[in-house]
Amino acid sequence: MTAVLTRRSIHTLRDPAPSDREFTYLLKCAAAAPDHGRLRPWRWVLLRDAELEALGARLAADAEPGERARVAQGARRAPLKAVLIFCPLTDHKVPEWEQLAAASSVAYGLMLLLHARGFGSMWRTGRLCRSPAARDLLGVGPAERLLGALDIGTSDSSERPVRRSVGDVADRVRRLGPLAVTGPVA
Ligand SMILES: Cc1cc2nc3c(=O)[nH]c(=O)nc-3n(C[C@H](O)[C@H](O)[C@H](O)COP(=O)(O)O)c2cc1C
Repeated sequence: MTAVLTRRSIHTLRDPAPSDREFTYLLKCAAAAPDHGRLRPWRWVLLRDAELEALGARLAADAEPGERARVAQGARRAPLKAVLIFCPLTDHKVPEWEQLAAASSVAYGLMLLLHARGFGSMWRTGRLCRSPAARDLLGVGPAERLLGALDIGTSDSSERPVRRSVGDVADRVRRLGPLAVTGPVA
């Protein structure tokens, strides 16, 4: 409950970030998420340092001239960028939307585990998902879909995430009710 209620998206992240090994360990745990058919229809590409610069340069090349410096800088917002690539099995009895739901569940579980370990993260989509040059750099295949990336690191102390106030969800829930249960059978 504490991890769920205290996790926030962290915009500014610095070192340390988890090592590749620690990331993979946490991912292994996050992969315990529900996954119809145990298909694991996802893969991750990790970028740090010069790899982030290379991504920034590719994204900037696709941007308007006036935006290029900001876009290139944006790729370096965090010491680790974990790109999530959705690789659904096509023509499978598990429909694609269920596979997408499984991939999203892993990403959220991973964010919670990162948070529980003291790391901050933020799921970003935007320009990365639209850039053909980024797809090329990351080796995203034609049947695959870029779901964005988790920016990962440690929260900058200047950013004090506020604990979320949990909104009411009662209007999103209703009992089916006895009338429907006793109604005529078609
Ligand atoms: C699939 C997905 C994509 C997102 N993409 C972006 C993004 O491109 N830019 C951004 O600022 N936030 C992005 N977010 C983060 C949301 O803005 C953030 O979760 C939301 O503001 C709630 O904040 P919280 O995570 O601190 O509760 C994304 C979140 C999800 C789940």
